[in-house]
Amino acid sequence: MRTIAVLPGDGAGPEVARQGVKILKWAGQAAGEELEIREYLAGGAAIAATGDSLPDETLEACKAADAVLFGAVGSPEFDHLPREKRAEQAVLKLRKELGLFANLRPATLYAELAGASPLREEIAGKGFDILMVRELTGGIYFGEKGVEQGPDGRVAFDTERYAEYEVERIARVAFEAALGRRRKLVSVDKANVLETSRLFRSVVDRVAEGYPDVEVSHLYVDNAAMQLIRDPAQFDVMLTSNLFGDILSDEASVLTGSIGMLPSASVGEGAFGLYEPIHGSAPDIAGKDIVNPLGSILSVAMLLRHSFDMAERAGEVEAAVRRVLSGGYRTADMMTAGARRVGTEEMGDLVVAALNEVR
Ligand code: IPM
Ligand code: MG
Repeated sequence: MRTIAVLPGDGAGPEVARQGVKILKWAGQAAGEELEIREYLAGGAAIAATGDSLPDETLEACKAADAVLFGAVGSPEFDHLPREKRAEQAVLKLRKELGLFANLRPATLYAELAGASPLREEIAGKGFDILMVRELTGGIYFGEKGVEQGPDGRVAFDTERYAEYEVERIARVAFEAALGRRRKLVSVDKANVLETSRLFRSVVDRVAEGYPDVEVSHLYVDNAAMQLIRDPAQFDVMLTSNLFGDILSDEASVLTGSIGMLPSASVGEGAFGLYEPIHGSAPDIAGKDIVNPLGSILSVAMLLRHSFDMAERAGEVEAAVRRVLSGGYRTADMMTAGARRVGTEEMGDLVVAALNEVR
């Protein structure tokens, strides 16, 4: 029996993860397989209960599971704590401990949502389908950091370090993904200023030699941020460091009509993975049944494809989401004139109903 550890987390995390679980249950039934789905504490919820954002029990359960479905973490209640005690540490530690060095964030502008995109109509009208491949366990997120008392006040530092092997393995993930897509890869860096970026670029060029069918180019991150808004349709796969991917994936997400739409997969060498919507815990709108659960639902589609080898089921989930959107149903974040507004639970139920219709 395959097991999924569900970590609902904070704020909007639990309500969106609950919709994701509905999809998991559907997939288990459709495949005639019983899935073991169990919940564990993480983030602020875990700090409140145990004092630790990632209790050992949660980490062990994730290690033992076949996949992890993650809600969101981050809780204003604990924002005053020192960095290493904050709720966000839960997801950072999980990524590191589970060896999930590759973060896949597909950003697709569905024609149905073009009206909700902040892009001008003639740009949104062209649509886009981008896969961001973000390095996830290295770089400035995990380098040496600290705060010191200097003669003129405090001095803080964060260091970015990248080893060749770290760049090489994430580059391979990106090139392999490009082979299954439009075979275009843009590597993002700041090689005009940063040593880590120069190393990144040279390793990407070396890996590229093994992929003659993939067209590679390099963009400075500032330019990449601009090109994403000016002409997102030019991109297929974008390869980034940890920090640049964090920033650019939020930018790409909002261009799709809502940050609430974007799923992600964090994976390592094997089939195991952690799946989560890219949006955060959104404490201001949590618990009111208004949050968009499609990011979590589409994350489950990624889980089915990557960790459970259920590509067909995954495709059905994605198709069901599109059908619900074509039917005019929208959560508050993606409302446009004439659409039918639904809540978090109802959106989850609509996707399940759409799935049951085709079976
Ligand atoms: C993300 C989030 C996380 C990150 C936070 C919650 C630590 O913004 O997954 O993009 O910065 O990686
Ligand atoms: Mg982020």
